[in-house]
Amino acid sequence: MPEPFPSDFVWGAATSAYQIEGAVREGGRGESIWDRFAQVPGAIEDGSSGDPACDHYHRFGQDVQLMADLGLGAYSFSVAWPRVLPRGRGAVNNAGLDYYSRLVDALLAAGITPHLKLYHWDLPQALQGWGGWDNRDTAKAFADYTEAVARRLGDRVSHWTTHVEPWCVAFLGHYFGIHAPGIRDLDTALQATHHLLLSHGWGVQVLRDWLPVEVQVGIGLNFEPTYPARDREADLAAARRYDGFFQRWFLDPLAGRGYPEEMWDLYGPAVPEMEPEDLDVVAQRIDFLGVNYYNSATVADDPGAEPLRVRRVPNPDRERTADREISPEGLNDILMRLYQEYEFPAFYITENGAAFEERPSGDGAVHDEGRCRFLQAHIAQAARALEQGVPLRGYFCWSLLDNFEWSKGYTIRYGITYVDYATQTRTLKDSALWYRDFIQGVAPL
Ligand code: FCB
Repeated sequence: MPEPFPSDFVWGAATSAYQIEGAVREGGRGESIWDRFAQVPGAIEDGSSGDPACDHYHRFGQDVQLMADLGLGAYSFSVAWPRVLPRGRGAVNNAGLDYYSRLVDALLAAGITPHLKLYHWDLPQALQGWGGWDNRDTAKAFADYTEAVARRLGDRVSHWTTHVEPWCVAFLGHYFGIHAPGIRDLDTALQATHHLLLSHGWGVQVLRDWLPVEVQVGIGLNFEPTYPARDREADLAAARRYDGFFQRWFLDPLAGRGYPEEMWDLYGPAVPEMEPEDLDVVAQRIDFLGVNYYNSATVADDPGAEPLRVRRVPNPDRERTADREISPEGLNDILMRLYQEYEFPAFYITENGAAFEERPSGDGAVHDEGRCRFLQAHIAQAARALEQGVPLRGYFCWSLLDNFEWSKGYTIRYGITYVDYATQTRTLKDSALWYRDFIQGVAPL
């Protein structure tokens, strides 16, 4: 194992159901909010949808083999709620659970540990009809869905994540309106946040009830360590507000501190409604925090930009991927901060990766040098954190495959494996080959 990573450090790759599975009308699957949202003209940059994406539903055997060839120790995937409960609640669709059961068995047979995520954004459309995450009943439905999955897969899956990036669900989906369900309303976004966190708490309780004690349970958040544009009080205060909006609004209640007071004041009448016991439910003990990291944020004070009065400013010193600035040191900053300011027992980097516009070259290979450098630079920052004492247990690269990148459709590619969507051929990019060799200890950072 490459220094300074311990021999039990987990090297994996991550995906999500809607982005790779396709087969949206097979196996009794119900409609999800992303199936519906993708039909809205202009919602997806290239007019596409998650059907058929990588056709992973039919090709998972081949994809598990690919992971085995790369020497991955773990695979982080999500279960599609509408496959398990086509209408969000009520009768369980066993064919949907059978599919994930086969996937889990294939992983275990290949010596790959399944890390299962319950919610990566594909809410059953039927629940959206009742208000979706704005409705407290959706959090209850999530607990029932969690139970259905736990009862079926709990004997074989050791690592469980309730939610992935609830910030994106709440704000991209309900405030900026660029993700499903496409709502633009602050009250709804904040209420959705609360119901997402509440459903996490109830989900953890259900998992603890149904699963063996040694099973590891956590949640995955996305982070944007935030820096002021200039060293002046107005920008420092703006950075604190953006941090409250992006990080602490989720971290603090999970850590038992309630919602950050200054954000509560700032949001004024838009703050969520809640029941007296909710904050205790949200603050369930978890075994790990999943850290999804892509970029940092540089911000300036902007009195006109309600409600946060913050403007993101580009940092011209930074190189860029197809869609973001590159700032590897932000990964170390956020890990150190989480370690020093919060008492989570362990961390996984549950997503980290980059999009570029590469294509296969004449020799058939995909020379994605930019992604190789990106992964190396970020893994080096993870190594620094480990050396400084952070209880970091694993690293999952986003993503195993090129896939449906939400509102950007298929216009950008995050995979370490190139997918030719016309033929569904997979080609390992140079970054995948480097990752394989690095994991084996034969390629340096
Ligand atoms: C993350 C999402 C993931 C993918 C990457 C690029 O925020 O969790 O599904 O879109 O960004």
